[in-house]
Amino acid sequence: MYNEKVMQAFQNPKNVGEIENASGVGTVGNASCGDIMQISLKIENDIIVDAKFKTFGCAAAIATSSTATDMIIGMTIEEALKVTNKKVVECLGGLPSQKIHCSVLAEEAIKKAIEDYLSKKQA
Ligand code: FES
Repeated sequence: MYNEKVMQAFQNPKNVGEIENASGVGTVGNASCGDIMQISLKIENDIIVDAKFKTFGCAAAIATSSTATDMIIGMTIEEALKVTNKKVVECLGGLPSQKIHCSVLAEEAIKKAIEDYLSKKQA
């Protein structure tokens, strides 16, 4: 069901865990399956210097979060906000259509974590 790249990312996921004293944390639930994803970010001068994820999601959620967190490390927050689930799925060489909803978790959790960072910054 999954291609080689997805299996690779699922079996050796990067950036698993939680950042202590994170600059921003985003937790989202998936409306389709009820699974949960949390992404924590360390941001310095509006640049993402570290990103980690924790999920109760499936293999597709793990593979896409691993890839998405890897993609955004080194990006500015503006660039990271443009990373869509589509781009992440493309980078993984595609997902079965019934698993596309899983890839939305990472995108949404990244956006929420950045919002959290921005709201703390303003406070
Ligand atoms: Fe829930 Fe994939 S089935 S994240």
